[in-house]
Amino acid sequence: MLFIILAYTLLSSNLVLGLTVHIPLVAPSIAPIVKPPLVSFSIEQDRWTDWVGTTSRNQFFFNTLNNLNHISGVPSRIRIGANSEDHTNFNPGLQVNPKHTIFPAITTTVPYPEASNITVGDSYYESTKFLPPNTRVTWGLNLGQNNITAAFLEAKSIVKAFSSPAIKRAGIILDSIEIGNEANLYPNNGARPQNYTTAQYVGEWTAFATNISATMGITANSTTKFWGVAFAGAGSSHSITGFSPQAAINEGLLLSETGSAISTISQHHYSGSFCTGSEGLLQDLMSKPTIRGNLSAYSPDIAAVRETGLEYVFGETNSYSCHGAPGVSNSAGAALWALDYVLFATQIGISRVFFHEGIGYKYNLIQPIALTRSILDGSSLPAPIPAHIQPQYYAAIVAAEAVGKGRDMHAVELAIDDSRISGYAFYDRTRLVRTIFINSEAFLKSNATARRSIHLDMGFTGNDIVAPTMFTTKRLIIEHADDTSGLTWGGQTYETNDGKVSGALVASNDNVANGLDIQATEAVLLTFH
Ligand SMILES: *[C@@H]1O[C@H](CO)[C@@H](O)[C@H](O)[C@H]1NC(C)=O
Ligand SMILES: *[C@@H]1O[C@H](CO)[C@@H](O)[C@H](O)[C@H]1NC(C)=O
Ligand SMILES: *[C@@H]1O[C@H](CO)[C@@H](O)[C@H](O)[C@H]1NC(C)=O
Ligand SMILES: *[C@@H]1O[C@H](CO)[C@@H](O)[C@H](O)[C@H]1NC(C)=O
Ligand SMILES: *[C@@H]1O[C@H](CO)[C@@H](O)[C@H](O)[C@H]1NC(C)=O
Ligand SMILES: *[C@@H]1O[C@H](CO)[C@@H](O)[C@H](O)[C@H]1NC(C)=O
Ligand SMILES: *[C@@H]1O[C@H](CO)[C@@H](O)[C@H](O)[C@H]1NC(C)=O
Repeated sequence: MLFIILAYTLLSSNLVLGLTVHIPLVAPSIAPIVKPPLVSFSIEQDRWTDWVGTTSRNQFFFNTLNNLNHISGVPSRIRIGANSEDHTNFNPGLQVNPKHTIFPAITTTVPYPEASNITVGDSYYESTKFLPPNTRVTWGLNLGQNNITAAFLEAKSIVKAFSSPAIKRAGIILDSIEIGNEANLYPNNGARPQNYTTAQYVGEWTAFATNISATMGITANSTTKFWGVAFAGAGSSHSITGFSPQAAINEGLLLSETGSAISTISQHHYSGSFCTGSEGLLQDLMSKPTIRGNLSAYSPDIAAVRETGLEYVFGETNSYSCHGAPGVSNSAGAALWALDYVLFATQIGISRVFFHEGIGYKYNLIQPIALTRSILDGSSLPAPIPAHIQPQYYAAIVAAEAVGKGRDMHAVELAIDDSRISGYAFYDRTRLVRTIFINSEAFLKSNATARRSIHLDMGFTGNDIVAPTMFTTKRLIIEHADDTSGLTWGGQTYETNDGKVSGALVASNDNVANGLDIQATEAVLLTFH
């Protein structure tokens, strides 16, 4: 097992806490496999064509995806759906897409609301061709309106799009179909009566899936499969009663012929909610214990799913529901939250994390088009802000580098007995290659005192292996946790006009024996050699 020795030392200028981190030289047998792409994206489907492009590719979005693709060796997966998935109708006559999109009123809490009604045609699905080549895509179908015709027409159009030469040429694959978004919330949003149950969900899902599998040729053996469940974390029971994956499995979700075409169980999670305008504290979001508290709640669900041999993903997640909390979700500290969040997710059996994104949402990693009003309160901006990335994008980049391109990578969380420092070690098969450390203590603009730093010494464990003596150090530099820009990763920035990386790489080669200082609000990647 992993141990940590605490060696508190008082150094001259600041209080510097010294920790010796024990790093196994050989992957412990419990270390889960981590496969790229770990970080993926969930896109609110009402404004899908703003993301990807209508008549031509949205080059900014493409570039931001392609950066990750180059690092991971495979493109991030894309799920298109979410709340507006259950408000989408299909009109085969539509030439322009999407049309008749109706949005609720803009409020200061939700400056970029989700469409309450959207009608799409063939070209809407065809625009999937603008994604990076070889992207695996999950499309959502409307279950909320309980109108099989809508789901059926959407499904037919998706089949048509994915059989088109443009999508085939690009190698873009329809990985899966999700039928309905957060059905456990249907009683709250009026889509179903208050007495709606998991058993009813399973019945409706199976009826829809029977039609859709026949329409799309989805079987237990087809390339395209189903995602099941997609329940919201809020209101999840995490037990066999109420709404949860284990409840749906218990009600026979997997037993039908269509159920056998489910490859993946998805759940959604937000750490808090901004729906009524009550913001949390950035430090609470970033903190190591709250990240573990939020994710560990899903352990029973994940265990129940894994037991059936299916994959488990967070098909939609981000910091605060209703598109994020101002000054928290859009801040640099949220990048450290997202990084620790995805890495810890690997440790409890989550295969992939789809960060939810919508045009103008506060918690986005990417803002793919110019915005004319504030993401914080909806006020008109003096001038449009061009497409840009937000701080959390760096988490996707850093996580991609940590996981690397390997197909047999293992990762293990290092047991560090400090509530601010988390660490993970990465192994190529069994060989230690990298570690990442995150210091999640928020250093804010208002912090007048000197920035604290923690010294880490590496204590390798595993006798019969020669320990590395050098590592290359690459840092995610954040001036303040509440900054909203100005981050650099290894000296480079992604805050550019085209979303491509810019600047000279800064990485130092250092002696293992000297250890490492990590500042409050910083992440460091060490590559051993
Ligand atoms: C059902 O869906 C179809 C296709 O989207 C739409 O034309 C029709 O109006 C819908 N029916 C109802 C009752 O909403
Ligand atoms: C959605 O919009 C379509 C087209 O404008 C309209 O026919 C339909 O009644 C609307 N449905 C709802 C539920 O508002
Ligand atoms: C659920 O509620 C609806 C009306 O809200 C009612 O018609 C139905 O009978 C109820 N079903 C059960 C099983 O209680
Ligand atoms: C699916 O449902 C649609 C709409 O009701 C119907 O036209 C179609 O025949 C159904 N397909 C299958 C295979 O059941
Ligand atoms: C799927 O493949 C397995 C074995 O490869 C076969 O036994 C089974 O009948 C196939 N199922 C379908 C629905 O094609
Ligand atoms: C989840 O994270 C939030 C902060 O974002 C925190 O307020 C909450 O207490 C955490 N929940 C658990 C169960 O740890
Ligand atoms: C920053 O200020 C906050 C609020 O006063 C305090 O709780 C925190 O410990 C300070 N952080 C650092 C890194 O000094």
